Amino acid sequence: MNDTFLKACRGEEVDYTPVWMMRQAGRYLPEYQQIRGNVTFLELCKNPDLAAEVTIQPVDILGVDAAILFSDILVPLEAMGPTLEFHEKVGPVFPDPVRDQQAVNRLIIPDPEEHLGFVMDTIRLLRRELATKVPLIGFAGAPFTLATYLIEGGSSKFFFETKKMMFADPELYSSLLEKITECTSLYLKAQAAAGAQALQIFDSWAGVLAPGDYERFALPYVKRIIGDLKETGVPIIYFTNNGATLLELSKTSGADVLGLDWRLDIGKAVQQIGPGIAVQGNMDPLALFLPEKEIKERVARILGGGSQAHGHIFNLGHGIHQFTPPSQAKIFIDAVHELSRKV
Ligand code: CP3
Repeated sequence: MNDTFLKACRGEEVDYTPVWMMRQAGRYLPEYQQIRGNVTFLELCKNPDLAAEVTIQPVDILGVDAAILFSDILVPLEAMGPTLEFHEKVGPVFPDPVRDQQAVNRLIIPDPEEHLGFVMDTIRLLRRELATKVPLIGFAGAPFTLATYLIEGGSSKFFFETKKMMFADPELYSSLLEKITECTSLYLKAQAAAGAQALQIFDSWAGVLAPGDYERFALPYVKRIIGDLKETGVPIIYFTNNGATLLELSKTSGADVLGLDWRLDIGKAVQQIGPGIAVQGNMDPLALFLPEKEIKERVARILGGGSQAHGHIFNLGHGIHQFTPPSQAKIFIDAVHELSRKV
């Protein structure tokens, strides 16, 4: 197996910089579209054979150094009780948002094997199919990011309901976050037990919080999950989107690897983070629309910035855009490999 990715997570010597892309299994690939044409998104997440197939597509087509489980951060929230729908052109919808104590009390803590067995089956299947290929990354959403979907009832721009609950009724807010945290800890531990070789925690909306609010309302829950996961021995990657202003705090999360979005200068971020923590990132996903020569220049610049890090895993600064030509993604992956190779 190509274990370059796992070595970089641990800060070990590598022959070249490993690379994968957030959202690498998805709509920009015609091979994904073909499978997705016959099933809904949630049906795809819940079908281990098909979920495993789309997980492996970018490994075979693009030559990335890690596979990420095909699922969604919202899947375990559905297992807690609330109805989840994905509407075309809108995205995820929770028709009954969680905004009072009764709704929080109704949430269950799912048993991962019993209520999310399809995820664990997908992981077990993938480990067999990836045995000679690349490591498998499992993942979950961070509690704050997950809570925004439950409280808002879907995606949001201003997070009015979430912040209103945080500030006006902090006890209600913390009772919800406690439940999501417990669910997420169990869920990630089960993924590691099923065979996930690294775990990424996505905090996609942390960047909408002031540092003091992030410190009080988001980070403690992430720390607790990472603490709970230490016993698994699996490297933990913590990605905050729009996280530049939070780095002084997020670097204390306990994660082995910090995922950086593209708004930061990676070299400066590495200085700020200090020793012992690897970094992942961080090219602007839309920079994949640049001509080949400029993609290579950017890759070289980011490799330079990452070269002083404890370890560097190349990635985009957020998910690949659905209208990206796969040929451009291939140019990017190849450029990382060519420009970083030491021998
Ligand atoms: O990275 C991967 O390839 C693994 C699969 C994965 C998906 N979602 C598949 C997906 C992962 C890791 C996620 C995480 C996720 N989901 C996040 C965190 C990462 C981020 O982007 O910040 C968030 C916030 C979600 C919630 C979510 N899921 C939204 C807002 C949407 C709609 C987005 C859109 O552009 O329509 C989804 C749907 C979704 N998740 C798709 C995929 C491939 C598109 C579904 C389709 O085929 O129609």
